[in-house]
Amino acid sequence: MPSSRGIARFRAATSLGAAVVVLAVAASAFSLRVFAQHERNSGSQEAVARQWWQDAVFYEIYPRSFADSNNDGVGDLKGITSKLDYLRALGVDAIWITPCFPSPQVDFGYDVADYENIDPMYGTLADFDRLVAEARKRHIRVILDFVINHTSDKHPWFLDSESSRISAHRDWYIWRDGKPSEGPGALGAPPNNWRAIFGGSAWQFDPKTGQFYYHAFYPQQPDLNWRNPAVEKAMFDQARFWFERGVAGFRLDAVDTLFEDPALRDNPVLPGKNSFGEPKMESKYTSKLPEVHDVLRDLRKVADEYGAVLIGETWTNNIDELKEYYGQHSNELQMPMDLMFTSVKTLSAPEFRRQIAAVDAGGGWPVFVISNHDIDRSYNRYGDGQHNDQIAKLMAAMYLTLRGSPILYYGEEIGMENNDPKTKDEVKDPIGKVAWPAYRGRDGERTPMQWTPGPNGGFSTVTPWLPVPSSAQSHNVASESSDPESILNFYKHLLSLRHKEKALLYGDYLALNPDDPNVLSYLRRYRDETILVVLNFSSSPQTVTFDLSSQGLASAKGKTLLTSDPAKPAGSSLRSLSLAPYSAYIIRVSR
Ligand code: NOJ
Repeated sequence: MPSSRGIARFRAATSLGAAVVVLAVAASAFSLRVFAQHERNSGSQEAVARQWWQDAVFYEIYPRSFADSNNDGVGDLKGITSKLDYLRALGVDAIWITPCFPSPQVDFGYDVADYENIDPMYGTLADFDRLVAEARKRHIRVILDFVINHTSDKHPWFLDSESSRISAHRDWYIWRDGKPSEGPGALGAPPNNWRAIFGGSAWQFDPKTGQFYYHAFYPQQPDLNWRNPAVEKAMFDQARFWFERGVAGFRLDAVDTLFEDPALRDNPVLPGKNSFGEPKMESKYTSKLPEVHDVLRDLRKVADEYGAVLIGETWTNNIDELKEYYGQHSNELQMPMDLMFTSVKTLSAPEFRRQIAAVDAGGGWPVFVISNHDIDRSYNRYGDGQHNDQIAKLMAAMYLTLRGSPILYYGEEIGMENNDPKTKDEVKDPIGKVAWPAYRGRDGERTPMQWTPGPNGGFSTVTPWLPVPSSAQSHNVASESSDPESILNFYKHLLSLRHKEKALLYGDYLALNPDDPNVLSYLRRYRDETILVVLNFSSSPQTVTFDLSSQGLASAKGKTLLTSDPAKPAGSSLRSLSLAPYSAYIIRVSR
């Protein structure tokens, strides 16, 4: 996939200076709150089957950085298991663990060398089984990351593929002849102009067999050939392997890029340069080809055998593209991530209002994410340097009260901030080295979880693989647990409300005061229960008036269930609510 689309997607939501950018259905008692009947949606009140993942709060864990049980500076599965009580108390229903499979770690696990094992740095399959069992005891499901676009170049399939033109796995990857080039001994030029998302040509020459192979990301991540039915079968077998072990679903990596144009047409070149200093390109022939949907429909059938959920890493440009990922008959991804949400770069009530309305009207189940292991932390993206904690609570109050499933990124609940490398030598993420200084890579958002104010944030007794910022002194689980006004306690209250209040779980979404430039407000309504969410996105106090007569709530009163306003007003008359700067109010409305 060419670079305009590539690293730009990471950049889209980051502040890269000026430049860059699930279930075992039948089986366990635990697994099923599935198919509880209820009614939702405005007016229609039609009974629909409710799936567990619609009520769930998801939590992304980057395993290198979550908890280090053996103090080697890198997190591990036993570490995650030791923190399950914390996650339960926070209000998490499912954890998504980014790749923990054997890997050379060129892309920190997104280069998988064996889909059916655990990398020794993280533990063993027995550790994984224990994690799933302990999680189940706490009603937490485990989701894994399925890297389906590519393998590591050290995967046995690729080692065989590159061994000769007639090897059994040759056609499991995308091999092509180069274009003839001039001059004696010339090896040929790459087959076309496609650029890798992580920079350079997307074609890597293999001198041994005299052909190029295609890689959408790093050269060490050769793309699988999904046009070969043997690839599909093998990959679906890998999925079954984990479903059989009790995994409740997958987050599917890089689904946009599964297919490329078989005719290898050049991608259109756009004006300007990307962060690698290369020409920008439209990824017309390397991204979102229609064949992707055939694979997703087939994979969904496998997932459905296990009642599993499929979450998509879907970098869509608009709601129509997002809708396609649900499938015409809701038979593809249950949860394509709305990553466009992360591209709202400033605290803008109108921008978030527009984005929420579009997704809400999209017809599928919305999935809200505000940061992840590829995107600058929301604490930095939205913080103004003065009210960051208050803004972190404001953002939480928004994405945790919307109709849809939220995916928290570890540390968001304590206000972790990016800790970007200060020099090129410090950079671990290879793209950060290549694109330095325009882009410093993704290390900053992947630093160790801050558990205590002690050395290394209590993550490890030895120097961790990435440095912990000094803000860990104040922003850590231990200190925040004992501060009633902390970001952590605000998250806990919010998640508790979200699990308790039917209007927040099942209610529809109704935007209020649609022209207000500063305050985002909306109702969540389920039968006769109504919750009003009022979010002051501005740095100044605001007064808002709500006329709910068209909702049959002409003389309704409000009772604040939760607020981040340090002075706590807002009042009970919806005719005039006083809002402190950057404050959030979650209000029960009663006639
Ligand atoms: C998306 C993942 O989130 C990112 O971390 C990874 O580098 C690429 N896909 C390639 O697998």
